[in-house]
Amino acid sequence: MNRAIFIALLSCFFSLSAVAAVSDQGIMTPDFNDRASLQRGLKIYSNYCSGCHQLSYMRYKEISIDLGIPNALFEENLLPKYARIGDQITAAMTPADAKRWFGAKAPDLTLEAKRRSPNWIYHYLQSFYQDKSRPLGVNNLLLKNVAMPNVLEHLQGQRLLQCKQGETAFKAGHGCRTVAGEIKGRISEQDFKQIAYDTANFLAYTADPSRFERESLGLKVLLFVALFSVFAYLLKKEFWRDVR
Ligand code: HEC
Repeated sequence: MNRAIFIALLSCFFSLSAVAAVSDQGIMTPDFNDRASLQRGLKIYSNYCSGCHQLSYMRYKEISIDLGIPNALFEENLLPKYARIGDQITAAMTPADAKRWFGAKAPDLTLEAKRRSPNWIYHYLQSFYQDKSRPLGVNNLLLKNVAMPNVLEHLQGQRLLQCKQGETAFKAGHGCRTVAGEIKGRISEQDFKQIAYDTANFLAYTADPSRFERESLGLKVLLFVALFSVFAYLLKKEFWRDVR
């Protein structure tokens, strides 16, 4: 009996820490323990996304604390010139301008990983392909007639659409995929997957920032319960001694 409780507690502990980043089927799972990945995701957001997408339910300071980036370092390298560390994260482009320039608003990304899923974002960033019929010359397998430019194209390289006979990009059944085009990217396919992973991981964090606190609190509660069980057991023995 005691052994069963011990095993149950142990498995709870490991289920909190063990995650497989990307499964063999290509499904990504966020990993909040991988701080380096979250920090890289923040860097990608700051360099490539923050011009258009807000993270208005987050403050710079909150991120710097959660991701373990010292305030001074954050202010020097990641904080836009117009912002202060306590500010909410806004984008340079207003929604009205986005509508005018791109034909669609660039949505706030704070809760995007809840609205879609981290896995969706991971694949979305890898699913752009060349499409001459579109104003920006690109389309996306996961978002038909996408209004967003492929901002990571120089890293990934141009991708071309390849479909099975009789299939088209947006027909159910997904007989289409993207393949490497003539213009190669600056980094390898594997490194680009890592970039997509880090960005999706970072957006999973912004959608659920209290998870850090929750998980460390959960561990403390489990330790308390384990310690308390010892005393409860000793007390039970003490009571039952008189009854018997
Ligand atoms: C030049 C402006 C611009 C930049 C830079 C940009 N986006 Fe976008 N993004 C848009 C627009 C506009 C849309 C709306 C697309 C649509 O509805 O067709 C969009 C849509 C999206 C969506 C899909 C929203 C949904 O659920 O429909 C995601 C996810 C996204 N962007 C992530 C990113 C990430 C991550 C980056 C940085 C790597 C980035 N974007 C950089 C303009 C931009």
